[in-house]
Amino acid sequence: MTLYWKVEPDASHAHPFLLEAGKMIAEGGTVAFPTETVYGLGADARNTEAVEAVFRAKGRPADNPLIVHIADRRQLDGIVRETDGAALRLMDAFWPGPLTIVLPAAPGALSPRVTAGLPTVGVRMPAHPVALALIRAAGCPVAAPSANRSGRPSPTNAAHVREDLDGRIGGIVDGGPAGVGLESTVVVVEKGLTGGDTQIRVLRPGGVTVADLRRELPGVPIAAEIEEPAEGQTPRSPGMKYAHYAPKGRLTIVEGSPERVADRIRRSLSEAKRNGERTGVLAVRERADLYDADVIAACGSANDPEEAARNLYAALRRFDEAGVTCIWAEQFPFPPDGIGLALANRLSKAAGHRIERV
Ligand code: TXA
Ligand code: MG
Repeated sequence: MTLYWKVEPDASHAHPFLLEAGKMIAEGGTVAFPTETVYGLGADARNTEAVEAVFRAKGRPADNPLIVHIADRRQLDGIVRETDGAALRLMDAFWPGPLTIVLPAAPGALSPRVTAGLPTVGVRMPAHPVALALIRAAGCPVAAPSANRSGRPSPTNAAHVREDLDGRIGGIVDGGPAGVGLESTVVVVEKGLTGGDTQIRVLRPGGVTVADLRRELPGVPIAAEIEEPAEGQTPRSPGMKYAHYAPKGRLTIVEGSPERVADRIRRSLSEAKRNGERTGVLAVRERADLYDADVIAACGSANDPEEAARNLYAALRRFDEAGVTCIWAEQFPFPPDGIGLALANRLSKAAGHRIERV
């Protein structure tokens, strides 16, 4: 049975429900909880059995490492080997917040299952009061991937977690909807081979944007092309090689001038209907009326990328609930500098990179 605790979004670590949930983690259990990005599924990062239960509940491949969540900078001491100046500046600027920093792991401190055998560990301090309170109540570093079954869109509220994991985990802390709606930005601080120039590499775009990073680290090169690894090539971030966030229906992104995009999607819809498919369209609110499909999901306004980020995963889940078999998505109209980069990245993954240019 999965326990369920409902708390206010600003509950403190003295809340009796959070003390209970924290105890469950401290004793080796698995607990889902809200963060300012998406819901996470937490376990004591030092406890291999607990970490294995997280992998099992999600059906997650064992070679994909977990992010370790802390509530206090002092917790870093036991987890990482060293933090260089650039990493410290990133922590000062963005923690607590949606930034995961990949750092050299201290040997033996964490369960080897957390890092999937890598010499590095991704660490983040979430900016959600409930997440911070739960980590404090647990009294340990908390390993937490997104609280979805592997391959499903990340959960942005507790109902999504229940859909995917009810009966498979110890408990769910419901603290209301998550914030950003997309997972944290993952960066690694790389040193030049000669120990010289530091550079920051963005492994996954997210709530902290490339522009934010540039502002905080003027003069430090930032590599942010999010290339997908070619077949047979080892990705820098193991999570990159998996087709994430996929809805069950076949999703295709259509990109081009607004008229042509509408034209193409309308024609594809008629053809799919003739073939007996259940159809879906994902578009911005202002253009949703252009289409006639079984499910039309408008995840936000054309001039509000933050709104689209909050709603994207819930929209993808709606297609699944309605048994939609074919989905067309208009490419998002957002500039690629802010959260637009993360949105385009997640939509492309959800579509298995199937993009029609018209
Ligand atoms: O916003 C978030 O980051 C959420 C919330 C719950 O904090 N967590 C999350 O975890 O999205 P997950 O496991 O779904 O994604 C973690 C990503 C994966 O792509 C993984 O490969 C990468 O971070 N990662 C973790 N540790 C890494 C490491 N040492 N080196 C490179 N990539 C790493
Ligand atoms: Mg995930």
